[in-house]
Amino acid sequence: MKTTLKLGSLGCLLLALAACRSDQPAPAEQVAWAPVNSPIRADAKTEARITELLGQMSVEQKVGQLVQVEIRYITPAQVKQYHIGSILNGGGTFPNNDKYASETDWVNVAEAFYQASMDTSDGDLAIPVIWGTDAVHGHNNVIRATLFPHNIGLGATRNPELIRAIGSATAREVSATGVQWTFAPTVATPRDDRWGRTYEGYSEDPEIVRQFAAEMVKGIQGEAGTSELFSPSKMVATVKHFVGDGGTYMGRDRGDTKISELELRDIHAQGYFSGLSAGAQTVMASFNSWNGERLHGSFHMLTEVLKNQMGFDGFVVGDWNGHGFVPGCDFTSCPQAINAGLDMFMAIQEWHDLLENTIRQAKSGEIPMARLDDAVRRILRVKMRAGLFDGVSPKQRAVLNGVGDVLGNPEHRALARQAVRESLVLLKNQDQILPLNPKQHILMAGDGADNIGKQSGGWTLSWQGTGNTNADFPGATSIYAGVKAVVDAAGGKVTLSEEGKFDDKPDVAIVVFGENPYAEWQGDINSLEYQPATRKDLQLLASLRAQGIPVVSVFLSGRPLWVNAELNQSNAFVAAFLPGSEGQGVADVIMAKADGSINVDFKGKLTFSWPKDLSQVMLNKGDKNYQPLFPYGFGLSYSDKDTLPSNLPEDRNLAAPGQGPVPLGIFESRVLDPWQIYLVDSEGKKPVTTNTAESSAVSLTGHDYLLQDDARRLIFSGTEPASVVIASDISVDFSGFLASKSSLILDLRVNAAPEGAAAIRLDCGDACSGAVDMTTLLKQGELNQWRKVSVDLQCFVNAGLKIDAITAPFAIDAASKVDISLANVQLLPMSAGDANISCQPQ
Ligand code: BGC
Ligand code: BGC
Repeated sequence: MKTTLKLGSLGCLLLALAACRSDQPAPAEQVAWAPVNSPIRADAKTEARITELLGQMSVEQKVGQLVQVEIRYITPAQVKQYHIGSILNGGGTFPNNDKYASETDWVNVAEAFYQASMDTSDGDLAIPVIWGTDAVHGHNNVIRATLFPHNIGLGATRNPELIRAIGSATAREVSATGVQWTFAPTVATPRDDRWGRTYEGYSEDPEIVRQFAAEMVKGIQGEAGTSELFSPSKMVATVKHFVGDGGTYMGRDRGDTKISELELRDIHAQGYFSGLSAGAQTVMASFNSWNGERLHGSFHMLTEVLKNQMGFDGFVVGDWNGHGFVPGCDFTSCPQAINAGLDMFMAIQEWHDLLENTIRQAKSGEIPMARLDDAVRRILRVKMRAGLFDGVSPKQRAVLNGVGDVLGNPEHRALARQAVRESLVLLKNQDQILPLNPKQHILMAGDGADNIGKQSGGWTLSWQGTGNTNADFPGATSIYAGVKAVVDAAGGKVTLSEEGKFDDKPDVAIVVFGENPYAEWQGDINSLEYQPATRKDLQLLASLRAQGIPVVSVFLSGRPLWVNAELNQSNAFVAAFLPGSEGQGVADVIMAKADGSINVDFKGKLTFSWPKDLSQVMLNKGDKNYQPLFPYGFGLSYSDKDTLPSNLPEDRNLAAPGQGPVPLGIFESRVLDPWQIYLVDSEGKKPVTTNTAESSAVSLTGHDYLLQDDARRLIFSGTEPASVVIASDISVDFSGFLASKSSLILDLRVNAAPEGAAAIRLDCGDACSGAVDMTTLLKQGELNQWRKVSVDLQCFVNAGLKIDAITAPFAIDAASKVDISLANVQLLPMSAGDANISCQPQ
């Protein structure tokens, strides 16, 4: 780790920092960022070639290089026409919008974009376009690809060599589809595990992040100084998101990281030091702010620190429209970001306006020509280093890599399976119940048992990792299938039942359960409590145990969660994180050989501290008063004796210090588990599966309030009574929320004066509900202004709601024209009388 330098005037001379002038007092904290000394060095020949090209380029051609466009919004012809420098496919975007696109389809699209960029028929310059993708746990947007465990699991393997091999296999799969650049690895150091991207980080410990980032980069790009570097099976790596993404306040994605520069460097930047020292050629700027300043607009961080002090000579790419959040910018214009040191915008629908505005700003001098030339130089430098100018087209590279044969090949799957084995962390093994004898009768239960989508997490064939079935994973294996293969071979018996049903009583149950997939802020949570609303899986574990069946829990999650109650109801408990496509890796470890002896021992060690109560949301190795349930580094092996008490405290009422009571989320950017949204009118009850839906008398569309797509606009046409209902097929007991005097609270915007009445309702079964009139609430306040509104739960009870059997925690009814937007629907304990509508118990 670096040390702080308190710089005197000598230090100013040595470091030539702009902020350091002898006529000014030195800032309170001067932090030196050591040069990374990339092993990929600038060479005179390449620089001369770039200078020559720059001399031939118009402003339009130069600015085109600075723009990266999502493939849904651009054609090869436009890439040529506007001299676009790069394209990307976002999470869940595929060539021709086809989720089942083959490798050849990918290659053909890559080839078409490349050939368009190389077309000199009208005297244009040939500058190869570069395609970037989020290959963050294997080539995860492509059907049949090998899916490796997410980084949180890789961290637990503590095996840097394995990480490098995974980088290498991923690069080969990506290369076989004609793509040359991955937005990976994420080198965040997640500190507050409520962050929805915790699983993208290797560890809460910067040291592990530092170690693994370098290995992943070497695997992806090849080792610098060897012939492997940027050979045709390699690609360009990105270290992201620069910087402090894992340190935001309360773990809010895209939030503010309020820490000193020293902490920023020593906790959150270690992966940049090592990743860039291993030669990573691109850095992605982060959405988050650092002490109130957006990283996309930070001259200090992008230019002074990253480029000048650390000496990074590759290019900085923006995140998804990330420039638009810099004060004074929007998605179509942001000279501030370029001037701060961003070299390439990541642009979506608005790319054309952004391009035109940037050209204008370059011509007027608002973006200095020297800055523009520097950005273009960096981009061309990376393209040249990566071999894009060498005349090997995406198709030729793909052929060299065995297009059609490489995705999900047995060697890569074996590697992923090894990673699964090594990533499993054994938290509990009472009476050494594990490994299980495969000759027994084993019940496999839980909704994760035979669910490859769930075991793979976010960034899997779709951005959120949702919407997949096992049929979407040809060649992959569920955890159930892995266990079944072992048991069948040994002559035992397996029964699969999600709900834990059986005919003959099993000897033991393996219950696979945990978080459903999510990505980015949609995975942010307020509390680390597992399944606060339903405790559905706890009931499953408890019911099996009540029948005298020992329980082995396999827990799938993107972060440590508070699971004391689930631990108490388990004889053994395995933290499996998000293992990916090779579920057999689980059976390899938890199942014994046919003779009962150990097949493979547990090796995984936690790289995140595991909380013992709900106050421990920001629990990290090295904290003062560090009292986790399972410390950083914990992980039993078969020879360890387990001493975990079987009566861990289950007190749920411990909120995080200083953060007040923990709300129960119902809708936060997405509808939360176990709920589902429905439109209800004369057409029936229609489930809403995306962010737009329409029925005869009501429509729903997603839009932005505080975050991308975090609000829903509801328009009731008034032609007949209609409802928007958030409901579940199971019923949930809300008595605790009534006892803590909770209110239903939401962000509301009224878009047009309502023409009649509307109500908020909760349901407790088919003919059971409690509704509260909200017409006055809608008429209060200004049109088109967001405000928080709240209704005391007691009011619904007074109106007939049975609080212990809630099937719909939120619904809106209207029979006349009503146009409103909603966001953040929650239950929150509040002081008596604080709600907009409050009621006395009757
Ligand atoms: C894209 C993702 C992207 C996200 C960010 C989604 O629509 O598919 O790749 O990360 O938006 O806002
Ligand atoms: C994410 C990035 C990702 C990009 C492209 C963004 O929303 O923050 O990690 O690389 O989208 O999909």
